[in-house]
Amino acid sequence: MKRTIAILCLLLVSRVAFAQQVSIFPAPVSMECRSGYFVFDGSNAFELHPDNTQMREAVEVFAERFGRSSGMDIQVAAKGDIVCSLSEKVDNPEGYELTVTPKKIRITASTPAGVFYALQSVRQLLPPQVESAEVAEGVAWRIPCVVVKDAPRFAYRGAMFDVCRNFFDKEFILQYIDILALHKINRFHWHLTDDQGWRIEIDRYPKLTSVGAFRDRTMLTQTVVKPRVWDNTPVGGFFTRNDVREVVEFARKRNIEVIPEIEMPGHALAALSAYPQYSCTGGPFEVDGKWGVFNDIFCPKEETFAFLQNILDEVVELFPSRYVHIGGDEAPKVRWKRCHHCQELMEREGLENETELQAWFTNRMETYLRQKGKTVIGWDEILDGDINRSAVVMSWRGYEGGMKAARRGHDVIMCPNKYLYFDYYQFDNDRGPLEKRHRIPLEKVYCFNPVPEGLDAAEQSHIMGVQANMWTEYVRTPEYAQYLLFPRLTAYSEMAWGTNGDYGAFLERLKDFEKRYEVIGINYAK
Ligand code: ACM
Ligand code: ZN
Repeated sequence: MKRTIAILCLLLVSRVAFAQQVSIFPAPVSMECRSGYFVFDGSNAFELHPDNTQMREAVEVFAERFGRSSGMDIQVAAKGDIVCSLSEKVDNPEGYELTVTPKKIRITASTPAGVFYALQSVRQLLPPQVESAEVAEGVAWRIPCVVVKDAPRFAYRGAMFDVCRNFFDKEFILQYIDILALHKINRFHWHLTDDQGWRIEIDRYPKLTSVGAFRDRTMLTQTVVKPRVWDNTPVGGFFTRNDVREVVEFARKRNIEVIPEIEMPGHALAALSAYPQYSCTGGPFEVDGKWGVFNDIFCPKEETFAFLQNILDEVVELFPSRYVHIGGDEAPKVRWKRCHHCQELMEREGLENETELQAWFTNRMETYLRQKGKTVIGWDEILDGDINRSAVVMSWRGYEGGMKAARRGHDVIMCPNKYLYFDYYQFDNDRGPLEKRHRIPLEKVYCFNPVPEGLDAAEQSHIMGVQANMWTEYVRTPEYAQYLLFPRLTAYSEMAWGTNGDYGAFLERLKDFEKRYEVIGINYAK
């Protein structure tokens, strides 16, 4: 009897939940639905404890979004019906408690980030028209009564986007960042430099963008296929210093840290096309329109270090982030093996081989950035040599790099390509370019386990979190990027938040969320 009642209750709750469309992504740690609604009627106001700049910023993004779609202006006042308070009761810095009754919305968090996230949940409790770019008519602006208690599993929940292989403009990036915030993702890793384009303006070296940000052509065939077929349309573009400031500030208001990636010593051909003197051979080089791994990389001469440090000085000034990513992947040693300078340097420093030379290079840059208060991140190849423990490792070639790093005492971000590279194809009948040869269906993303078996508790504590990566060799339009990203990014966000459970139930909930994609204008995979 008890069981029958329990099942009936469950059915009732799930039916009510379905009818009211109570679903939040990523799913909160706990959510109870109550009867009734809180109605937005134009008389609402925020009451903030404390009322300071950070708290005002935490509610401003929501007020702006809601104002645009509903036409209602929610101000901060001494007394209000949306009460946001900081309290030490909530221990996770990004956690929050949200209680909605017919009379009040109460939000409690330990930091303004938690308040911001509670309001992202409110955003999702509202009808999908809240995403509208202009005032939507005939909408019941109300949210169901709920009690939510929520906090993320991982402190680092990242998304990387490559603007080098193809250029994606500021408007696209800003929209993407807002969508990341909707999913409670808190790091945007901006891949800004590569062989096919240098995308960030550096005052001291104008040719990085006047030369390095443009190429004449793009290869349409796969690297291994001959003859090659080219598209001779020029590709180019870059972000000015003001663009960067705008993106960083837009993200900051959404609890997103923007982490710049300046690749070294490899994937440097665009930079070397502009400044060939920092290579081993002296060039000349061209910004390349083919994909892959290139032999011409930075030569570790004093002049090169001065060049890179000057660049990083400007980067550090533009990005307040704790982290700076310095690449480190796919750096062939062909040129270093034949370069007098490189060989002499190895001799002088007692380095056994070119792999040790790369570690020496990385450690030098790591030390430089650490002295500027930054923590360096590198792709897992940096582990091939003995790297300063303060460097964070991004494990992309499977779990192994991350495990090795955690055992050595490095902090780790998990982004294994077979699970979290969203440029890889999703459906059997939709393979896309063959070079991206792994299929990553939605379920594989949803069920990913970021903490590998075989690590002890101390080692596991080094897993800071996860990241979804979007490379764009074969992604030439915002529409196609979105098709590859969604809904996988939504599944990813729930895994990163740590509340991924029943995949079937996730798919059911997703049906509602697709209405939100549609109002935002996201071209998602159906
Ligand atoms: C990478 O995918 N080369 C980091
Ligand atoms: Zn050299």
